[in-house]
Amino acid sequence: MLKSISSIEDSKYFGKTILIRVDFNVSLSNGSIGEDYRIRMSLPTIEYLSKRGAKVILASHLGRPRGWQSGYSLELVAQRLSSIIRTAKVGFVNNCIGNEVRERIDRMGNGDILLLENLRFHKEEEANDEEFSRQLASLASIYVNDAFSTSHRKHASTYGAAKLFDTRLAGFNLDREVEYLTMMKENPIKPLKILVGGVKIKDKIGALENLLPKAEKLLLGGAVAYTFLKAKGIKTGISPIDEEHMPWVTKALTTYGDKILLPTDHIVAASPNEGYASIAKEIPDDFAGFDIGNETVQRYSMEVGGDGSGTVFWNGPMGQFEIALFSNGTINMAKSVALAFWRGSKTLIGGGDTLEAMKRSGVSEGEVSHVSTGGGATLRFLAGDEMPGLDSIDRS
Ligand code: 3PG
Repeated sequence: MLKSISSIEDSKYFGKTILIRVDFNVSLSNGSIGEDYRIRMSLPTIEYLSKRGAKVILASHLGRPRGWQSGYSLELVAQRLSSIIRTAKVGFVNNCIGNEVRERIDRMGNGDILLLENLRFHKEEEANDEEFSRQLASLASIYVNDAFSTSHRKHASTYGAAKLFDTRLAGFNLDREVEYLTMMKENPIKPLKILVGGVKIKDKIGALENLLPKAEKLLLGGAVAYTFLKAKGIKTGISPIDEEHMPWVTKALTTYGDKILLPTDHIVAASPNEGYASIAKEIPDDFAGFDIGNETVQRYSMEVGGDGSGTVFWNGPMGQFEIALFSNGTINMAKSVALAFWRGSKTLIGGGDTLEAMKRSGVSEGEVSHVSTGGGATLRFLAGDEMPGLDSIDRS
């Protein structure tokens, strides 16, 4: 078990400088923050340590900048944090290592919070560079990881620097993610129904290989479904097909064909921006599918929201839900997952797009057992892949 921040006596935190690796990689558009779920999910850890008199240093990445790019600054996030946290002083510093950072930390009072500038402004972060790790680690005496969604990365802040601390603890968000996803991976309440959409088959293969033997049904939508349909010899028109992973898809259909449900009707159009679409049982040659059709929606809703689910895992939208014409499948699946929750199933949602799809469908975070902060990390964890950010935490 990961050693949690709650396993240490409160007095051990008083006056200590603590580096928390958070994941504030949120969407920014036109200078404002979009979905702030990741920020909100780390608040309990930040406030817990601040209230116990620790000097709290927050380190995060934002996006994938190439060197210093002002559009990737975390300053806006610091402003958001200081408007949410009313019980402590929240500051921001222009760098994540060096003299200025050190001076700011020296001036901090007990309970104060300081957000460092984007770690990825230094290429050494992603390179897990030894000297950069040493400089980060020198800022504090205790390390906390609350960034589950970045724990699949072997970077300086998740691995190299973490290893240099004597005390390396898991924050509440990290703990909760690991608890839910371990249940899902090892011992899901049966029957397990998996709903998968989105685009990239490659990212989902490992998780599906682990989950399919335990699952009763895998319901497919989104672009991934067309490759499965094509592998079965069904016409897919000009829908995107992932030829590279066709052999895996064919094998999955041979091994688990009786568990795999595919769309039987589609919302089709010649292009997504035409402004109109039609419903078709068979996708015509010059058309592509952009959403699952009504018959499929009804069949899938019965599987997910009917009485029979123990656990439901949902990853990826059913179609191009950003366009109203193609949002019906995703909206209805979000509602079905909420219905399954209200009927007593454990429901888990993973992947950035899935959270956004859920919100747009009018389903709130409170109508899901667990919404993972992770995209890639969630799938990698479920696949049983190496998770350097978890390996570097103490065990209790
Ligand atoms: C994510 O958004 O999945 C995490 O913040 C990790 O970001 P990355 O894929 O750029 O490493």
